[in-house]
This record gives sequence, structure tokens and C-alpha cells, in this order.
Amino acid sequence: MQDENLPNWLPQLTAQGGPRFLQIADALQAAVAEGSLKPGERLPPQRRLAAQLDVDLTTVTRAYDEARRRNLLEGRGARGTYVAAPKVELTSILDLSMNTPPPPDGADFGDMLKQGLSQVLMRADSDLLMTYHLAGGSESDRQAGAKWLEPMFERLDSRQLVVCPGAQAAIAALILALTEPGDVILAEPMNYPGLRAAASQFGRRLITVEADKHGMVPGMLEAACRKHKPKLVYLNPTLQNPTAITMPERRRRELASIAKRCKLRIVEDDPYWLLADAPPPPIATLAPEQVYYISTLSKCLTPGLRVAFVLIRDPQERERFLVALRSFALMAAPLTAALATQWIFDGSADALMAGVRKEARLRHRIARDILAGRYSGAGDGLHVWLELPAYWNSLQLARAADSEGIAVTPAEAFAAGSGSANAIRICLGSIKDRGRLQAGLQRLSHLLARRPESFSAAVV
Ligand SMILES: Cc1ncc(COP(=O)(O)O)c(C=O)c1O
Repeated sequence: MQDENLPNWLPQLTAQGGPRFLQIADALQAAVAEGSLKPGERLPPQRRLAAQLDVDLTTVTRAYDEARRRNLLEGRGARGTYVAAPKVELTSILDLSMNTPPPPDGADFGDMLKQGLSQVLMRADSDLLMTYHLAGGSESDRQAGAKWLEPMFERLDSRQLVVCPGAQAAIAALILALTEPGDVILAEPMNYPGLRAAASQFGRRLITVEADKHGMVPGMLEAACRKHKPKLVYLNPTLQNPTAITMPERRRRELASIAKRCKLRIVEDDPYWLLADAPPPPIATLAPEQVYYISTLSKCLTPGLRVAFVLIRDPQERERFLVALRSFALMAAPLTAALATQWIFDGSADALMAGVRKEARLRHRIARDILAGRYSGAGDGLHVWLELPAYWNSLQLARAADSEGIAVTPAEAFAAGSGSANAIRICLGSIKDRGRLQAGLQRLSHLLARRPESFSAAVV
């Protein structure tokens, strides 16, 4: 008997067409692709299809299993088997603009997520994971922070740490806690755009201090301090975003001693330290009283955790920081903070980070091969900074790349002052598949070799 709710679909099998279960799965795939089977439609019950095709039940079962493996079908228990919802494919753009870690080589991220969450749920009270905690992280989360920061600081008192919902929130809360509207914040001319966003939202003035190939120039910092009486200096000294510069130890020491002499407060935003090859010590170890240190998990593990650790040694400042943080974000999500803690203590964080580092290095090698002489930036970190030939300007190139389906970020996005470099930032992590990354870089390299005159953008 024909069920009116079932699609009128019957695959054609041939004697020469190979294994029958594969013929059925292939026919299903073709029907979904051409739209004769639609997402959400119920498939004939296996027994009935077997009878209609005159094949064994196991043949149909294998065919449905195969189609499920290809993500074409989903089972809904006793209610039957349905055509799966289509894969969400918002855009096919090759995204070299999003600064995220690459999929870790040799580490199964999905499995770590499942294992880690099940450990957390076994060991924690789920009610407590789902309610407010306003003290800047549980004791175990702060101990995890101290362990996370061991490579940089050896031993830390976990009470000096605050768990934050990411570095961006930490930067904003530090600005709110340590400065007043109209106060000056100093930074390098090219820097992380989230700093500018927070400073301008809160009405603080961002003034730039010249930087050279080693980062902020000490003499210029001293002069700017005399002139502008800044309340904060923002530095991102390791694999800087966007220039990929790692400030050498000598420069760090010079800046640290100016900070001590001029009683400066420094925000050291250091997301990439653990990804770098033999990075110099953080400035926070050279001028502990002067520096607030931020270490996010976003770049070493995954940004979705929204977990960063902030080192604030002074208890009163820590309290002011928490008051500021609560005003716009309240706290880090306890569930993801607990997952980060689980991963840090059970070794998953190290394994994941090792996978991210390995994959990042492989990707740098690909970038170096393709971009050859234009390539700047060491072989570590997640991005490269590409100085452009004079015949391209960065905005023009970003627009041209965009119309060829490649997203890159022009220097203007990072310029805190009026001038900007003629360069683009290329992120190596956001394209999941290494082959597609290679294709994107090759297309970009061809574009760079062409002159802008030969390019005319479609106007729609
Ligand atoms: C230097 C720097 N600071 C902060 C952030 C933001 O990190 P989070 O995801 O922890 O907010 C980024 C992200 O790109 C960054 O590059």
C-alpha cells in the first residue's frame, strides 16, 4: 500500500552497476543533489524498499548506513529514516582574514571535547556550572591558570589571577578599571583592532608611539610619556597582531626599565607566547609591579572557550577590575572555564596546543613556498604580514582579493593613528583544509604578481 507521506522514490538497480547497496546509496545521493528527495522527507521503511527492489533487507540496511555515513540521512528512532538537513554553506570564500588556530595535526579535537565535557559533568555539580559566580573564577580554574602560565612565570599565586571571558573582555575591563574618560593610552601604530574599539567606546584617547622592526621604540615611549602623561601602555610583544614581530629580550628590558622609572602601567596582551619558538620572557616578569598580563586560550586551543587568564598582582586593583568586568560581561561561562581547567590538568590542552603548533608550522612552510620573497614573519604563530609591492595599495588589493573569493585584512584595519603601512595580514588557520589554504595562497600570489590596472572589479 502506498503511504501518501512517503516520497515516490525508487532507485533503478542494474546487474552491471556494482554492489547493490552502493547503487542504492549513490541513487539516494543523486536524488538529494537534484532535489527529487528533499531535506526532512521520510524514506521508505527498509523492509518495504527491500521488497520493492527484490533484494535482501541487509542490502537496504547497508545502503542506508552508507548514506548516513555520507551525511545524507538521519535516523529518528521508531519514526523512521529522513533526508538530512542540508549542510550549512554560507559562503565559499577562502577566508584568510579570521585569526583562529588551525585544526590541530594529530589531535582529535571533537573527541577531546566529548571526553573533556563528560569528565566535567561527572565531576562537577551541574547546578553550580549553570549559575552565577562573580569572583573571577573558581579556585580550581585559577589554579589551572597558574599551571597554564607556568612556562612564562614558573610559579604564580593563583589568587592573583582572574578568569575572564576572553582577552578582549580583559582589555576592556583593564581600561575601565585603570583609566578615566579622556585619559591617554599609548600603543604601537599597528595593533590589535579590539584595543581601538574598547578605547573609543569608553572615550579614552589612543595615541601611537613609533615602532621599528623590534617593536615600540624606547626613546619614543619616554618622550610620549613626558608629553601625554598616559595612564596605560598597550603592548602585544610576541608575534604581534598584525606585524608578526616578536620583541627581542633586550627591547623588552628597555621598555620594562622605562616603565619602572616613569611609573607606567603596561597591559601586556600575549596570546601567542606559547605558540612561538623560544620567545623571550614576558615583560611582566621583568617589571612585575608595572605590568598586567593577559593570556587567552583563544589562539593556542580554541576561541570558542572564551577563557583568558589575567594576572593582576594588587588586590585592590583586582577588585576594581572585577567591578569593571561585571559591568559588561559578569564572568567567564563556568562550563567552558571548567572544560579549560579539565583540559589543562589532564594534558589535553598540551596535546591540542602541540597539534596547533605542528599544523601552524606546516602552514607557514606552505606560505613561504608560495609567497617566497614577499613573506615576512617567523615560521611560528598563526599569521603573516605581507608588505606589498608599490604598485598595489593594501585597500585596493584587499578589494581585488575579495572579488576573487579571498578574504584578507588590509593594514588600515590595524592602524591606530593616521598613517598606515602598505601591507596585508594573512591568517593561516581559518581555512580548515590545507589544500584549500594552498589554493587560496596561490590565487593571492597570482593576484600580487598582476598589476591593479589589469583588474576591474564587478560593480553590482
Ligand atoms: C593581540 C590579541 N589580543 C586579543 C585578542 C582577542 O582574544 P580573545 O578571543 O581571547 O578575546 C586577539 C584576537 O585576535 C589578539 O590577536
